[in-house]
Formats: sequence, structure tokens, C-alpha cells
Amino acid sequence: MEAVRPSLVFIGFMAAGKTKAARAAGEHLGLDALDADAALEEALGMPIAAFFEREGEAEFRRREAEIVVDLLSRAAGAPVALGGGSVLSAAVADAVERHVVVWLDVSTDEAWERIDGTSRPLARDRGEFDRLHAERAPRYEELADAIVPGRRDAVRAALPALTALREAPAGTRMLWASSASGDYPVFIGNGLLGRFDPPAAGRGFCVTDAQVGAIYLERLGAEAAVSVGQGESAKTLTEAERVLGELAAAGMRRDDHVLALGGGVVGDLAGFCASVYQRGVPVVQLPTSLVAQVDSAHGGKTGVDIAAAKNYVGAYHQPAAVVADLDTLTTLPAEELAAGFVEVVKTGLLAGGNLWESVRGLGALSAEAVAPLVLPCARYKLAVVAADERDAGLRMALNLGHTVGHAIEAASGYSRYRHGEAVGLGLLAALRMSGADGLRAEVSEILSGHGLPTALEPGLSTPQVLDALDRDKKRTERGVEFVLLERPGEPRVGQLVDRASVEAAVEELRAAG
Ligand SMILES: NC(=O)c1ccc[n+]([C@@H]2O[C@H](COP(=O)([O-])OP(=O)(O)OC[C@H]3O[C@@H](n4cnc5c(N)ncnc54)[C@H](O)[C@@H]3O)[C@@H](O)[C@H]2O)c1
Repeated sequence: MEAVRPSLVFIGFMAAGKTKAARAAGEHLGLDALDADAALEEALGMPIAAFFEREGEAEFRRREAEIVVDLLSRAAGAPVALGGGSVLSAAVADAVERHVVVWLDVSTDEAWERIDGTSRPLARDRGEFDRLHAERAPRYEELADAIVPGRRDAVRAALPALTALREAPAGTRMLWASSASGDYPVFIGNGLLGRFDPPAAGRGFCVTDAQVGAIYLERLGAEAAVSVGQGESAKTLTEAERVLGELAAAGMRRDDHVLALGGGVVGDLAGFCASVYQRGVPVVQLPTSLVAQVDSAHGGKTGVDIAAAKNYVGAYHQPAAVVADLDTLTTLPAEELAAGFVEVVKTGLLAGGNLWESVRGLGALSAEAVAPLVLPCARYKLAVVAADERDAGLRMALNLGHTVGHAIEAASGYSRYRHGEAVGLGLLAALRMSGADGLRAEVSEILSGHGLPTALEPGLSTPQVLDALDRDKKRTERGVEFVLLERPGEPRVGQLVDRASVEAAVEELRAAG
């Protein structure tokens, strides 16, 4: 049994809803919530604004830290709402460490809309408001054990998962994923499999493959397990039918759930089976490969391949929860870790900023080195899915490098390249088509530095790849649309590219081989 961390402590920017969240958590737990600002006003004997004006910020922060540290030491399980600036104090940051810190994340626009027209002093100056928001966000992020959107419905829905997080192994972090068709928690940490059960209804029926099952299945205590074939060739309707039959034979009911233990193949296949078994049962994704932890386990796309194309049959089926145990990456074969790293590079390119800096600065590839990148990559993907679950616009950005990548996989019969390796080549083609020559050179160096291919094998011709591109399932009436990117953090979706440029970008990959 893990040591239970005593309280949920809500932090975040002005108007993020901290007081209301703490109250909702109090109701959930049957305890009275504590409010740091209220405690502060009582101790100061006057409104915060008045003390601030009379004594100045330095004195205010000193008293605030004293009072908040005392409050946190007394919070025996009761949820606490902290003032927006209190976590800037080192003493407060130390004091929150033994609790579960929940960052209620709101954008400046959302926060401004909530305070605009109120009497709050900062409601007068949008520029100063935005500056403070940008300054504090990294501090909230650094302290957060859980990141939840600052919306009342999200907070209420997240409470069972936040409560469970108190018992998770130390260092476990949680993201709350929102999308049009469902919300769910994503837990990321070390030593989670077998030591932490996310809230999920009924009994767990595991779907896994032989390699992953041999190492991790025993820990789960699943009701029954179905083993699927290894690799992409297992993602078929025939295999799905077999899995469904075995789940039925094992007695799985509608109020039970599927545990998808493995890489992206198991996640896609098991998620698909869960979406159709008795018209839909919950699936808990337990991703064990880097591809699955940063990408495929999140966002609800499930499916199988048919002869016509990869992922041609499937369903959107959001998981009930995702539990990414970072320790599983230590048993992942080195080539799979490298292939998964391509999705990390892709996410770094899309997100730009600190994530891109971490990706480009990564030294030797190892489970330990990539582990800190899993959460920011997952968080980026979840933000995109939250804005556009069904690929209508922004989500298409996640296909950066995938259009040519998929064509390379298809043209080579899905056997010569791992998915990630093909996407790496696709990234190089996309950057060439974007005219981002310097960035292409840098990405090429990153890929080859980690032992990934940067050129097509001689057996594969440019017309073969272009033919496969013409059959792309995402092709629209307008033609094949690409995601282009001139600078990290600035993807452009839905871009048509003239045939000669596409051909030149693919030919360049071939010529390099
Ligand atoms: N649904 C989505 O949004 C989405 C996104 C990206 C990729 N995908 C799909 O994901 C699949 C690729 O996923 P993948 O790269 O994880 O491949 P995979 O599932 O085939 O796993 C790769 C190999 O690593 C092994 N493995 C996985 N975890 C291990 C561990 N911890 N220890 C030892 N061995 C381990 C597996 O047994 C397998 O042999 C593709 O089918 C792709 O289409 C889906």
C-alpha cells in the first residue's frame, strides 16, 4: 500500500475556479474545504487588497507564506484552495510537496473573460494580466501532480481520479483529457503496473501480445487474458473476431472493461474490440511502448488494417483511463524505442518552445532519457484532441510526416520499416516541401544520431511511394493534403503541394540512399 498523500491542493491563475474546486472536492470527500485567501484575510484582519496596498507586496507575501504553510500543515485530508500567487514562495512550494497539487489550467482568454468587468484590480489591465499569466504558468506546471482544465464540469468529473492519485506511487502525475465524446484521466509515472489501479467499473479482461504479456501480465491480476499476434500483422479483422470470441468465452460482460496492455498494435486492436463488444465496453489503455505512451493510447482512435489500407476500419472510442508506466520502457527493444522517438520528434516540431528544445537537446536515447518527455508529448496531443476530436482541422496537424510516412509503409508492404521509422522519413519529406531546409538538416541529424533511417532503401522507387500516396485514405476531393511546417510550433494543415515538389521530396530520400 502506498503512503496516502493527505490533501488535494488546488493551485492556478486568477479565476481558475480554485475555491469552487476545493468545495466540490470537499463535498466528494465529506470534508470541509479550506480556503487560503479566506484564512489570510481572517489572520490579517482586513481584505487582502487593503493589506497589499498598505504594507506592500513583499510584506504581504511574507505573511501569506507563513499563514499558508501553517494551513497546509493542518490540512489533514481536507481539500485546500491556494491564492494564485502564493506558490511563488519557496516555503509554500515545499509545504505543498506532501500533498497532491492540482493545477487548474485556464488560458488567459478564459480567465480574462471571467474577471472582465469585475472589481478585481487586475481586471483593468489586460497586458499586465497576460504577462502575469505567462510568468506563473511554468511555476504551476512545475509543482503540479495533476493538470485539470479550470472548468467546473471537468473538476467534478476528475474528482474520483484525483482521489485515486493520492494513493499512486510517488512522482505519478495525472492529466485530465477532455474531448467532445468523453473525459478521462491519464496517469504517468514509474512502477504503476500492478501497484496502481485507476478507477474503472467491473472486472478487467486483458488483451496483450506474447512479448509484453510474458513480462507484465502477471502483475495485473486481470480476470482473464487474450494474447494477440506480434506486430502490425495482428491488426486485422480476423484477429479482432478471435479476440471478441475469446472475451465472450471468458465471460466478459457489459459492465466489465478491457485492459489493453502493450504497444500501439495492442492498443488499437483491443480498443477496437472494446468499441464493438456488446456495442461498446470501456477500455483502459496500459501503453508499454514509447509510441503508445506519447501518442496512440491517447485520443480514442482505434482500428485495424484491411488489404486496401492501414487503419481503414475502426472507431473513435475514448479510453476510460490511460496508465503509462514509464518503467516499461526499460524492457522495450532499442529499435522500438528509437522508432517511438520519431513521434516525440514530431510532437516537438508541432509544439515548438520548450518541448522542441528538450527534443533537440536529448543526448543518448534511453528509457530514462525519454521518460520526462512522455508527459509533455501526451499533453500536447490531448490539447489537440480536446480542440478537435474528429480530425476536422487542428487534429490533422498530428499527421505531420505521416502522409509520406504511410505511403512508404504501404509501398514497402508494411514489412521493411517500423511505423516510426517511416514517419521519420515522412518528416524529412514534409520539411523539404515546407522549404524548411535548415530544420530538415537538423531533424535528419537527430534521426541518424539515434540510428534511424534518413534515406529509403534502394529497393523502393519514387513512383511506388507516389502511387501509395495517391491511395491515401485521408485524400479529399481537393487531393492529398499535407501538414507543412516552416518553424517549430507553427504547423499548417490542409496544404496542397504540387506534384513536382512532392516527387522531388521523395526522390531526395531515395537519392540519399
Ligand atoms: N490510434 C492512434 O492514434 C495511433 C497513433 C500512432 C500509432 N498508432 C498505431 O500504433 C502501432 C505502432 O505501435 P508500436 O510502435 O507501439 O508497435 P507495437 O505495438 O507493434 O510494439 C512494438 C513491439 O514492441 C513490443 N513491446 C511493446 N512494449 C514493450 C515493452 N515494454 N517491453 C518489451 N517489448 C515491448 C511489442 O511486443 C512489439 O513487438 C501502429 O499500428 C500504428 O498504426 C496508432
